[in-house]
Amino acid sequence: MTITTNPQTSLTPTTRAAISGLGTARGHKVVTNHDLTLTLDTSDEWIIERSGIRERRIGGSCLELSTEAARKALTQAQVQPQELDLIICATCTPDQVFPAVSNRLQNELEANCGAFDLNAACSGFTYGVTVAEAQIAAGMERILVVGVDTLSRFTDWNDRSTAVLFGDGAGAIVLERTHNTQKGILSTFLGSEGRFADLLTCDFGGYIQMEGKEVFRQAVRVMVSASQQVLAAAGLTPQDVDVVVPHQANMRIIESAMKRLSIPLQKASTVLETTGNTSSSSIPLALDAAVSKGLIQDNSLVLMVGFGAGMSVAAALVRWGQ
Ligand code: ACO
Repeated sequence: MTITTNPQTSLTPTTRAAISGLGTARGHKVVTNHDLTLTLDTSDEWIIERSGIRERRIGGSCLELSTEAARKALTQAQVQPQELDLIICATCTPDQVFPAVSNRLQNELEANCGAFDLNAACSGFTYGVTVAEAQIAAGMERILVVGVDTLSRFTDWNDRSTAVLFGDGAGAIVLERTHNTQKGILSTFLGSEGRFADLLTCDFGGYIQMEGKEVFRQAVRVMVSASQQVLAAAGLTPQDVDVVVPHQANMRIIESAMKRLSIPLQKASTVLETTGNTSSSSIPLALDAAVSKGLIQDNSLVLMVGFGAGMSVAAALVRWGQ
């Protein structure tokens, strides 16, 4: 009997799934910490010191943001929408209860493939990458994975404990089958700790409710554990990692996790200073920044690790290039 374990090492000895295109979009309007001090009892200093965030971008629908990101990713990959086999949109803030964002995105792009949304909160993008990789193992050639969230629509702008943290954005990748087994996704890990589900919630018609301190504590623990597991599954160690692309919730969470993994902080890609926490788009936004700055190059070992409401956690280890 074959037992499937989590974490998983990836694909067959002759095939892998590799990232061939990457694109992002940010919310339309810049909201600085100073802007928030005009309506909230808070300060620029408090927000920077406790979270690392200086400004966030809000506005735009999930469809608008995901379409912009997807078009950029497809252009970079030199893939026509009609060549896609599947579209996966990771989002916990869809524009409507139904249809899914991915169905409308498929129509915008004029693609002819299946499409579905996936909700794993801030871990959604990495969950999407894992599902896409499995579909490529099952025979698909090209898949568009989008992480998109508009948390500003579910933020109580009078609640200083949450309003200072969140922003809107989207990030997309094209994942393609490659026969270069040295490149692409090496291993993945998916986790859920439902006993912590009440730490971070948003009811229909309501706003984000969060026990910040406890989310912080658990987030560091699950990020470290997921990272260690995904590395062990690939037979690698934290010292082998060139760039960590963590979920962008709080600079202090990233610092604590990097310290516990014994990976120098300079190896973490961060964008939260200007984006805030953009949920499932935060990892592709930070991935894009690392590529643009030249931190990620051909053959770099990239560790993506996200956590979020659920409590969900996911990691993927990628050898960059095709
Ligand atoms: N401005 C000024 N003071 C504030 C603010 C604010 N914006 N918010 C809270 N405070 C006050 C509190 O009222 C408290 O005052 P008190 O001591 O008089 O009671 C004091 O600051 C300290 O508050 P704490 O909550 O203890 O501050 P902490 O250092 O824990 O930082 C924060 C709060 C930033 C929310 C932190 O706990 C955090 O980032 N937690 C993780 C959140 C997270 O990652 N959420 C996203 C998960 S991903 C997803 O799925 C959406």
